[in-house]
Amino acid sequence: MGKLNARGQRVLKILHLITAGLWVGGAVALNLMNASLGPGQSGAELFGYDMARKFVDDFIIIPGAMGCLLTGLFISWLTPWGFFKHSWVTVKWILTVTCILFGTFILGPMINGQPPISEALGLEALADPVYQANRNNNQLLGGLQLLAIFFMVAISTLKPWKKAAKK
Ligand code: HEM
Repeated sequence: MGKLNARGQRVLKILHLITAGLWVGGAVALNLMNASLGPGQSGAELFGYDMARKFVDDFIIIPGAMGCLLTGLFISWLTPWGFFKHSWVTVKWILTVTCILFGTFILGPMINGQPPISEALGLEALADPVYQANRNNNQLLGGLQLLAIFFMVAISTLKPWKKAAKK
């Protein structure tokens, strides 16, 4: 398979950075909302919060993560960077796929589980064991996911472990 010309590679990188920005920005927003979620003044307010977090997940994080994966795939396939030529690219592959699976099967269900509870129970949702567990676990595990995403931005910029790549 031939490689993209220089212009095509630049366009691909722009798309990669836009989607990476969406993923980073969405993850930061969710974590900040998690940390600042107070008891609220009413059940409607709590439900609004939960719906807003679901919105950020569905319309910013998921498209960002999928876009990163897709543009990463095309960068590996259609540019000289390749899939396993550089250790940092291999690590990004492992981390991106792991984070997407973690987001899909662990974090996503916690976020999607909240609106039906706050819609049904109003402010009393805050005392509901499932609602509380979702919130606490999401705070901890969402923070870990954010650290992994920051790490990917850092290694993308530093492009470390060059000696290992040459072997
Ligand atoms: C399948 C997964 C991924 C692959 C294979 C991949 C691969 C690459 C490659 C090869 C570059 C260098 C492109 C160039 O300079 O022409 C790059 C740049 C970059 N990637 Fe990724 N990437 C992936 C996922 C991600 C993720 C999840 C993020 C962050 C959320 C990310 C953030 C960045 C950033 C910020 C740069 C620009 C670094 C710079 O030029 O200094 N990438 N990526």
